Amino acid sequence: MGSRRKFIKTTGALGLTAITSKLISNEQINALETFAKLPGNDPAFTLPKLPYSYNALEPFIDKQTMEIHYTKHHQAYVNKLNETPSTNIDYMSNDATKCTHVDKTTSMVIRNNLGGHYNHSLFWQLLKPNPEGHKNPAEGKLADAIHKEFKSFEEFQKQFAEKATKIFGSGWCWLIEQNNTLKITTTPNQDNPLMKLDHERGKIILGLDVWEHAYYLKYQNKRADYISNWWNVVNWNKAEELFNTK
Ligand SMILES: [Fe+2]
Repeated sequence: MGSRRKFIKTTGALGLTAITSKLISNEQINALETFAKLPGNDPAFTLPKLPYSYNALEPFIDKQTMEIHYTKHHQAYVNKLNETPSTNIDYMSNDATKCTHVDKTTSMVIRNNLGGHYNHSLFWQLLKPNPEGHKNPAEGKLADAIHKEFKSFEEFQKQFAEKATKIFGSGWCWLIEQNNTLKITTTPNQDNPLMKLDHERGKIILGLDVWEHAYYLKYQNKRADYISNWWNVVNWNKAEELFNTK
């Protein structure tokens, strides 16, 4: 390991400790980073492997959308990060969880592209092929928490879909845990609940991309239909794993 990379890793670890709060623990950050953890080679940021084929989420998310979304949109965030001279060494560490360092002082190019890389890396993991097409509900402790907070799984879905549908323009809808309470929240553009910005912060359990690039080829302007069908391919095992991470 080169001295620069050693320095980055050391300062990165210290940085994570410094920003750890009751909302986002080190363990959660470590768990979340596993999917985006990159080998210690340059370039600093690389596209994580898609855990299924482009057509695996059919008929709910189509092959062409998946291919373009992954190889063009996500790749573009990665490319932009690698092209951007960093003004803060923390951002150039090779893990995407550095978005926990993002705040109002962060340059928009880093905020947008680091968020884009992180959010999409997580999004792929939170999808799962399910050609049978049932709205596979959560199980286990997460299901219990959803029922406790929203009274029923159907009510949770209704509230989540309403918030996701109403996002103006591009953004994300999230299920987060904040002080042991589940909340549905939204962020514009590529912001997320880990960033230190003017929105709800917390542990991410579930995230839905409602940028038009995520659905327009198949659903055109019918975002509500995309959301309704997305429930069929939610990877509840991953959501449960994130929920159970302390
Ligand atoms: Fe996207």
